[in-house]
Amino acid sequence: MLVMEVIICNCNQVSEKVIKDLIISGKAKHADDIEKQTGASDDCGRCRRNLEFLIKITKTENLAEVNNNNCDGNNTL
Ligand code: FES
Repeated sequence: MLVMEVIICNCNQVSEKVIKDLIISGKAKHADDIEKQTGASDDCGRCRRNLEFLIKITKTENLAEVNNNNCDGNNTL
């Protein structure tokens, strides 16, 4: 089976999976955290907005997953 990696930072070859793993593990809360740990966005900077977007959507995805797993029908956090 061929697994394709989505590269977010072309300059430093940092994949979406690497970035999402950092966010989910709590090791990256801001784009600066990702930059320090992977080098993403420290060259041309074109990927910076994508890092910020991934932080935003990954947090939202995780919150939705927590809500789905803990749903008792009351829709409260
Ligand atoms: S694409 Fe990420 S620094 Fe250039």
